[in-house]
Formats: sequence, C-alpha cells, structure tokens
Amino acid sequence: MDKRPESLKRITTKKAADKFIAAQIKEIQEQVGDQKVLLALSGGVDSSVVAALLIKAIGDQLVCVHVNHGLLRKGEPEQVIEVFKENMGANLKYVDASNRFLKELKGVADPEIKRKIIGKVFIDVFAKEAKKIKGVKFLAQGTIYPDILESKGVKAHHNVGGLPKELDFELVEPVKYLYKDEVRVVGEALGLPKNMVYRQPFPGPGLGVRCVGAITKDRLNALREADAIVREEIGKLKDKPWQYFCVIPDLKSTGIKDGKRYMGWAAVIRAVNTKDAVTAKSFEIPYKTLYKIRDRIVKEVPGINRVLWDFSDKPVSTIEWE
Ligand code: XMP
Repeated sequence: MDKRPESLKRITTKKAADKFIAAQIKEIQEQVGDQKVLLALSGGVDSSVVAALLIKAIGDQLVCVHVNHGLLRKGEPEQVIEVFKENMGANLKYVDASNRFLKELKGVADPEIKRKIIGKVFIDVFAKEAKKIKGVKFLAQGTIYPDILESKGVKAHHNVGGLPKELDFELVEPVKYLYKDEVRVVGEALGLPKNMVYRQPFPGPGLGVRCVGAITKDRLNALREADAIVREEIGKLKDKPWQYFCVIPDLKSTGIKDGKRYMGWAAVIRAVNTKDAVTAKSFEIPYKTLYKIRDRIVKEVPGINRVLWDFSDKPVSTIEWE
C-alpha cells in the first residue's frame, strides 16, 4: 500500500498548510512540466482543494470539467462556476448533463442500480469531454489518505480505473497523504470559501439516493428546494450536526389546500451525528427549528403537503434512505 511518509507532520495550522502548499506547487510543476492536466471538479472538498492547488501551480494548464448530473444540491453548480471560473480564473468547462442522467435513470427504483447508472454515465460524460481536449497527459484526482486506507485508492465516481483505455492518463494526486481535516486546513489556506471547505459529506450519487425509488424531475426539484431549507435552518444552529439533509420517499398522501383535497409528497428531515459513519445518532433538532422547517417547506415547496422527522439511529437505520 502507498504509505503516508513519516516526515509529513499533521497539518493543523495555516503555517503548516502554507508549507505543504509551497512544496506541492514545486512537486506538481516538476511532474507535469508544460503539459495539460484534466480534473473532474465536483465542487466537493477534495476536488476543490486539488483544483485550487493546481491553479496556483500551473494556471490554465489545468482544465477543470464540472459535470452537472442534475443531482447536485441547490446552488452547487453556480458556486463552482463562481469560485473557480470567476474568482480564480480557472480554465473550467461546465457540462450540463442533467437531462441525460434523468433519461438513463427513468423508471429505475433499485438503489444499487441507480448508483451504477450514475457512476457509469458520469464516466461516460467525463470521458467524452476529455477526448475533446487535445494533448492531455495527466489526470488530477482528489484522492485522500482514507481512500487509500479504505479502498484501492480511487474515488468511486471519478475512478480512473473506469475510464476508457484510450484515455491513458498519469495521475496527479497532491492530497493523497492527507486526512480530511488536513485537506480542509489546506483549502482554507488556499482561500476557498468556508462553506465549501467545511461542507457536510455528500454522497457521490447526490440527491439521486435521496429521491427514493424511481427519480422524477418534479420530485427531484421539490427535494432540492426542501433540502436547501433544511440546510439553511439547521445551518443556523451554533452546534451543527455532522450531516443534515432532506429525503423524499416515493409516496403520496392526502393534503388539503383552499378547501380542496389533493395528493402530495412527504419531505423527511434527517440529521445525524457520527464519528466514522459506521454508527450514527440522530441529532436532537430543537423544536423551534423543526417547526420553522415545516412551515417553510409546506409554504415554499410546491407538491409537498407533509413534513416528517426521521429520528432513527444507525444501526438499525442507515444514514441515507437508499
Ligand atoms: P449509510 O447510508 O450507509 O451512509 O449509513 C454512510 C455515509 O456514507 C455516505 N454515502 C455515500 N457516499 N457514495 C458516497 O460517496 C455513496 O453511494 C454513498 N452512500 C452513502 C452517506 O452520506 C454517509 O455519510
């Protein structure tokens, strides 16, 4: 296994992060010379930190591709464009593939098949973009040390092993020996926004596994809006839980509006605390916040007429519904 060098001290301060950044810039420049480097920039912590590092090291030799699979949270694609293209001047290609993902996922209710389709289509869309950019030799990846410890060192959805053979890249993995907390310290030192660096974990298949069952555009849109409200309101608390989000099961129940009965979806609020995601405790959301979320969701999100709170622990429930 690729082992973390003993000389690498834990990075907990800005000073240590600056030293790491300077060393990495030199190393990246030596590795890639004047060649182009490709990066699938999801907007997650790891790929964002790698993008910021590479922009510092090689400027527009870095080509970032942001694939919007339509399963991102509210405001995420916009933030990627704002932070990287507008503020950092990145060479960023934005690909809106949301209709393709919706089409491929149509009618698919099995969570594992949904995950496989999302992973496969992601690689396909990314590979197509990669082929359009001539002369690329290197692929940057946001692999971090736990990825190496837990798996074979590759990220599930940005998995170079899954790319077609003709795209034979050499890897650039500048944060591969860092733990998550160190990646965040480096991200802050690179000037990335706090809400990007300290964002809660978000699964690769995104809202796809929170729009339970077969995904439809209207339920997915309702989920995105309701999830934004949950994140905004719980995000105001001084002590925020580890993960907090919304789920919309594939079921409808009766509601009443202006004296008329109608069928609508139920939004489920989920907030948990955990150290390692192996076990998790439901977070005690203050009632005031719960009621605020309830009122906002039924008022602001069309199609939702019921709000539930999933306060199950793991085990026996998993954190995600799928
Ligand atoms: P569960 O639901 O198994 O989740 O209790 C544990 C942690 O893993 C995240 N999760 C995923 N992350 N791809 C990911 O990158 C996935 O398919 C996936 N499924 C679950 C989940 O959000 C939680 O933090």
